[in-house]
Amino acid sequence: MPQIELINVSYSYRTGEGQSVRALRNVSFSVEKGEFVALAGMNGSGKSTLAKLLNGLFVPSAGDVVIDGMNTRDEERTFDIRRKAGMVFQNPDNQMVATIIEDDVAFGPENLGVPREEMIERVDRALDAVGMQEYRTRSASKLSGGQKQRVAIAGVLAMEPEIIIFDESTSMLDPEGRAEIMDVAKKLNEKGITVIAITHNMDEAAMADRIIVLRKGRKVLDGTPKEVFASPEVEACGLALPPATELARMLSERGFRFDGTVTDEEELVEGICSQSN
Ligand SMILES: Nc1ncnc2c1ncn2[C@@H]1O[C@H](COP(=O)(O)OP(=O)(O)OP(=O)(O)O)[C@@H](O)[C@H]1O
Ligand SMILES: [Mg+2]
Repeated sequence: MPQIELINVSYSYRTGEGQSVRALRNVSFSVEKGEFVALAGMNGSGKSTLAKLLNGLFVPSAGDVVIDGMNTRDEERTFDIRRKAGMVFQNPDNQMVATIIEDDVAFGPENLGVPREEMIERVDRALDAVGMQEYRTRSASKLSGGQKQRVAIAGVLAMEPEIIIFDESTSMLDPEGRAEIMDVAKKLNEKGITVIAITHNMDEAAMADRIIVLRKGRKVLDGTPKEVFASPEVEACGLALPPATELARMLSERGFRFDGTVTDEEELVEGICSQSN
C-alpha cells in the first residue's frame, strides 16, 4: 500500500455568489514511504492547495486523498493525518510561536499532551536533527532566515511525523539558507521520512527522486529529474531548467554528446571532459 494516494482529486475554492475557482483537476498519483518528491509548477498551478489536501487541512471537492490507508474525508482520522504529515511553510517569521527556541520546538508536543520527560527527549532529538542544539535557550529573534526555518522544521519533527511537506520553505532565504534547508531535508529523508518539497527552483527539484509538475491544476509530468528535464513540456509549464541542464542542451546543439539528460554540474563537467579525451 502506498503511503500517500491521490485518486482523481479535484479542488475548487468557493469565491462567493455561487462562483468558484478550480485549483486542482483530476490529479492522481501515489508516493511510497521514504520517497523524496519535488512538486513544481508556476504560480497558481495548485501546489499549495495540493499540500493542504495532503495533510487533511482541505478535503477534496471530488476524489480521495488517502494517507496510510486513512481517507482525509474521515473526520475521526483528521488528527492522526495531521500528525503524520507535518508542514513547513514559506515565511520563517510566521511560524514561530515562542521567543525561546526550545519552547517553540516544544509547542506542538506540549499541545498533544506528551509527558514532560518524553517531550524533553523529543525536543532534544529534533534540535539535533536540524543542527540547532547549541541555540536551544536563545531567542529566535536573532537567528538568520535559514536558522529560523530549521527551528520550524524541528517543531514539526517534535511531532514525530512520517511525512514532511515543505511549501516553498527555501524561497525567502539566501543561497546559504536554502542549502541548509535542502541539506536538512535530504538528511531527514535518509532517515526514512517521506519528503514532499514544493519548489520553483529546478536545482532543488533535481535533488529529488521524482518530480511532479502541475500546470493549471493538472498533473502534466511525473518522473525522475532526468525524465522531466528531457521533456519539452517543462518550459511550457513555465519552469526554467537547471543551469547545468540548459548549458548541456546548448552544447549538444553545437555537437557535444552527453550520455542522457544532464541534471547537475557534476554530470555536465563529466560530459564535457569525456569529449576532449
Ligand atoms: N483562498 C483562495 N480563494 C480563492 N482562490 C484561491 C485561494 N487560494 C488559492 N486560490 C486559487 O487557486 C489556484 C491554485 O492556487 P495555489 O495557491 O494552490 O497555487 P500555487 O501553485 O501554490 O501558487 P504559488 O506558486 O503562487 O504559491 C490559483 O488560481 C489561486 O488563485
Ligand atoms: Mg503556493
